Amino acid sequence: MSAKTETLLSILKLQPVVPVLIVEDVASAVPLARALVAGGLKAIEITLRTPAALDAVKAVAAEVEGAHVGAGTILNARDFEAAVKAGSTFIVSPGVAPGVLAAARDSAVPLLPGAATASEVMTLREAGYDVLKFFPAEQAGGAAYLKALSSPLAGTVFCPTGGISLKNANDYLSLPNVVCVGGSWVAPKELVAAGDWAGITKLASEAAALKA
Ligand code: 3PG
Repeated sequence: MSAKTETLLSILKLQPVVPVLIVEDVASAVPLARALVAGGLKAIEITLRTPAALDAVKAVAAEVEGAHVGAGTILNARDFEAAVKAGSTFIVSPGVAPGVLAAARDSAVPLLPGAATASEVMTLREAGYDVLKFFPAEQAGGAAYLKALSSPLAGTVFCPTGGISLKNANDYLSLPNVVCVGGSWVAPKELVAAGDWAGITKLASEAAALKA
């Protein structure tokens, strides 16, 4: 396993659930990340789906003690480089693309690339990736599907994301090839909009108490 993969694994192993955030307002990023860290979720993925996302990564990287901020929804090399420049400590993509892999090769920051089929997993293994995001987890076939991949594709570990909540997280976390899960349920839009940081810390604590 490469040093970059070791670094990625050590970040993912910090907790059973990585919050996946869509930050609409940069002003909410720091209190939101603080609320998640207070609940025990230190590795946080901010998706590049809003104009505020890169500034949110920057603010959390600079101001939130104990947070490991990553950037998600990285679709090309330009996004990869911008996310690293903003201070991301890991990068997440929903799938595999040559440009993203090339940017990752040239960077010291680890990439968690997405896969949903055996062929995608095999392609990423050939490129040197043993730790993958399984996306979209529920929609692609859920925990039973991921379990079926584990025997022929032993040696690859996954962070399933997509359609996961407190209700079904354990279906994944109980699989031997799952290191953590990702999900947006720990930061619901309404709580963020209301600035209910205590409510978010409570959701984060429940998620942090799940068994990885
Ligand atoms: C995403 O990238 O949108 C994540 O997979 C989050 O999915 P969720 O909103 O279903 O948790």
